[in-house]
Amino acid sequence: MDILLYPDPRLRRRNKPVTEFGPELERLAREMFAVMYRTRGVGLAAPQVGVNLRFLVYNHTGEAERPEEERILCNPRVTWRSRETEMGEEGCLSFPEIYAPVRRPVAVRVEARDAAGEETRLELEGFAARVFLHELDHLDGILFIDRMTKSDRVRLRGALADLEARFAGSRAGT
Ligand code: CO
Repeated sequence: MDILLYPDPRLRRRNKPVTEFGPELERLAREMFAVMYRTRGVGLAAPQVGVNLRFLVYNHTGEAERPEEERILCNPRVTWRSRETEMGEEGCLSFPEIYAPVRRPVAVRVEARDAAGEETRLELEGFAARVFLHELDHLDGILFIDRMTKSDRVRLRGALADLEARFAGSRAGT
């Protein structure tokens, strides 16, 4: 399982709701967690591994030794978000070595289904809310560069151009 890197157009696709739950989806989640831990991530959305579904996993601690913090969410929707927002540093596995602060609500309430299709409700705050919202954006084809300040986008212009050149090169080679 490979992580798609910016500017792969599959990161911008519209993703389909999950309609089939069960062991297959559980297996996909395990694979995504394995890749996520290996690459020192805290979350991963299905479109980042080329799966065109509204499906995401995260563990805001980033620690494989803390599986009780793992969340597997299908078709998640935000039912409430705090009016209060804050800036916090983010990275993204599809943007290696690029980091920038992004403004997000400090807390959200979420409804989703788990891998078995059971309805689940979560109340998230702080970094867990941030990680979830970053992954939720992926399901809508939104990337964290879309939410950065203009000055950060200018600061990162060179790094983004490098990723674009690498992507063009990898395509030319196949
Ligand atoms: Co990301």
